[in-house]
Parts: sequence; structure tokens; C-alpha cells
Amino acid sequence: IKNNEITLLDHTFPRDNWTNISENIIYKLGRNLHISPYHPLSHIRQRIVNYIYMQFHNRIGNPIFSVFDNISPIVTVAQNFDSLLVPENHPSRKKSDCYYINQNTILRAHTTAHQSELISMGLNNFLVVGDVYRKDEIDSTHYPVFHQADAVRLCTAEEVFQNVDNSNELKLFEHRGMETDEKQGCHALESVKIMEHELKNTLIGLAQTLFGSEIQYKWVQQYFPFTHPSWELEVYYNDQWIEILGCGIMRQEILQKSGAGERIGWAFGLGLERLAMCLYDIPNIRLFWSNDTGFLNQFKVEDPNTAIKYKPISVYPQCKNDISFWLPENKSYSSNDFYDLVRDIGGDRVEQVLLKDEYTHPETKKISHCYTIVYRHMERTLSKREVNNIHNQIAKRANEKLHVTLRG
Ligand code: PHE
Repeated sequence: IKNNEITLLDHTFPRDNWTNISENIIYKLGRNLHISPYHPLSHIRQRIVNYIYMQFHNRIGNPIFSVFDNISPIVTVAQNFDSLLVPENHPSRKKSDCYYINQNTILRAHTTAHQSELISMGLNNFLVVGDVYRKDEIDSTHYPVFHQADAVRLCTAEEVFQNVDNSNELKLFEHRGMETDEKQGCHALESVKIMEHELKNTLIGLAQTLFGSEIQYKWVQQYFPFTHPSWELEVYYNDQWIEILGCGIMRQEILQKSGAGERIGWAFGLGLERLAMCLYDIPNIRLFWSNDTGFLNQFKVEDPNTAIKYKPISVYPQCKNDISFWLPENKSYSSNDFYDLVRDIGGDRVEQVLLKDEYTHPETKKISHCYTIVYRHMERTLSKREVNNIHNQIAKRANEKLHVTLRG
């Protein structure tokens, strides 16, 4: 093992000062929960794929969508961001938000990362399902690895207007048009409206397939660099509105650069964990990573449409421990880096980290953070000794790696 290199999924990459991928994340690579037989995330993937296959087929009934569920999560920064028109200074690129392997290589932060490449290969209708990686908070609904499904559909003028009589005057594009809330400058309003209609119908149908035909939903305007207009779909479930997906009309520049400039496209992306947590009543996102048969056996059904409500096996006691420190004065500090460090040491024994208190010293102007770390294992009771041991290691490593000064 050379210290200036890192080997992931059988490939070796040079390290540089962008490298910020942690051990804890490296262990997760290749788990492929979304294609593990009987795994709840695999059931959700299968239901989405089945729905899309059913909705879009050719004259003889064969599905027209291609499904990619085994593409490596290691992508270039260009794939993850540039190809999707994410600006150079966009916050989503920050080191404190993503796992960089080096300056040019990253663990994908969304499955959208593959869209322009697949379009360049000549695909017009496809789904990409896979694991994605983001530095984030630690609580019951956030985990640095989760799973997404993305879809793209590209249509020619003939396809868009196939059900319209006398459609000769209808066009996909408009020259010297203006961008408005409803459309991009280059698009003709009629083509956008038809695509928007198909996109929204498809997604409402998907929500009804998953949650039942009675599900209440609403569309919320959104912004993504790679689509315009863009929306989020929210559904009303268990007495609250939850956002389940993002979607929109694809930026024409992406199609042009990928050799599909004569088509118009829609795209959507959704997270599998959130859907599975709702549909199966799974209370904590860490459970998806459990090897405990008490969890896994509850999902051992052949038909992915089987209604299942997860019954907690048993709940082991929590153990809370605070940590306070002064932030470094001449170095940048981000809470996300601390969360990542906690994950790295505590692994799944950490349930939650809360920023409990933030304080600026009136004279020195030094800033102090106090976090509560909630320890709880899902499969056994943690001993005081084990917790103290992890807690001390976290303190020590935070001091070494993040240059914080511990407070007594
Ligand atoms: N990639 C977006 C996300 O991760 C979702 C998305 C995909 C939105 C495709 C629009 C189109 O939030």
C-alpha cells in the first residue's frame, strides 16, 4: 500500500490535496444494496423499473427503457458537475459536501452524473439506479451513502406531436426565444407543455403505484442547473408533506453537447431510502445497512409489490455524550467534516450528532461548538466502556485532523 495512492473497486488513483474519502465510506463501496436479492431497496428499485417498463413500450410490447443498475460510482468531476452545467462555484461542489478521490475524481453525488455520457452513446430512454455519496448531517434520515434512480426520456418532434392533428406547424424549437418561468429560450412552448404533461403524468402514476391511488400530491417549483423548468413532487403521507423527487425539462445545451440536439428531453431523479422508509415504516436509515436477519428476513418476499410493515426487533439503550471544542482560528472548519470524522470512528454505533451550542468568546472572538453525540447500536447494547473509548478517539482525532482545541 502506497501512501500517495488509493485503491477503490480494483482501480488505483493518485491522492492529492482534494482527497477526502474516509475508511468508513471505502467499506461501503461495492455493497450494492439496490441489487441485493430481497433487500427493501431492491424491491423499490424493481417496482420503479416495472412501472417504467409498463408505461413505455414499443408496438410489440417490449420496454423501450434501458436500465443501468451496476455502473461504478467512481466518476469524474466533469461527469458529476460540468456535464450538467453546475457552475464552477456552486456550493454542491464543496469539499465539505462531497467525497473526492482526487481533484478530478469523485464518488458520484447523484446518479444524474451518467446522463450526458449515456446520451452520447445513443440512448434515448434510460434509467440509472445506484449508490450515491454525500457528506451530511447525522440523524435518522441521513446517511453518507444512499441510493437514487434517475430517468431520461428524449423525443423527436414526430414523437412529441404524434397525437396532435395537423401538427405540421408545431415545432420543438424557436429561434431567438426568451427564457421564461415556463420554458428555455430555445424551446417552443407547445413542445415543452407536451413534455411537461407526459413527465408529470408519468410521475403521478409512479406515486400512485407506490403509495396507492388515493395519495395526495402537489408540484413545487424548483431549480436545478440541468433542467428548466424544474419541479419537485411532494406527497402527503403519515400527516406530512414529503418531497419524493426532482424533475424537469432537460437543458438543451446538455443534449446538444451529447449529440442529441434535435430532440427534447425530460428527466427525473428520486431517492430510494426515503420511499422505502415511508412504505415499509423503517424508522432509521442505518437499518438498510444491517446484516441482521431480524431485519432482512422481514423483506424476504418474491413479489416486490408485497405490502410490508417493518416491526422493530428491539431497541437497545442510547448513550449520550457531549464534546466541546474551539474551532481553529486560521483554518476553515465545517460541521460536515466533523460528522464525517465521527462516522469514520463510530461507524453505525452513532445514531445522531447534534450541534447543541455555538458560542463566540466576547474578547478573543474565538468560536466554540458543543455537539451531543448519541450512541446506540442497532443489534446490541453498547457498554459504557466502549462508548467512552469511541468518544475519546473522536476527540483525539478531531484535534489532530480538524485542528480544534478541546475544552475541559
Ligand atoms: N439530481 C437531482 C438530485 O439529486 C435530482 C434530479 C434529477 C432533478 C434529474 C432533475 C432531473 O437532487
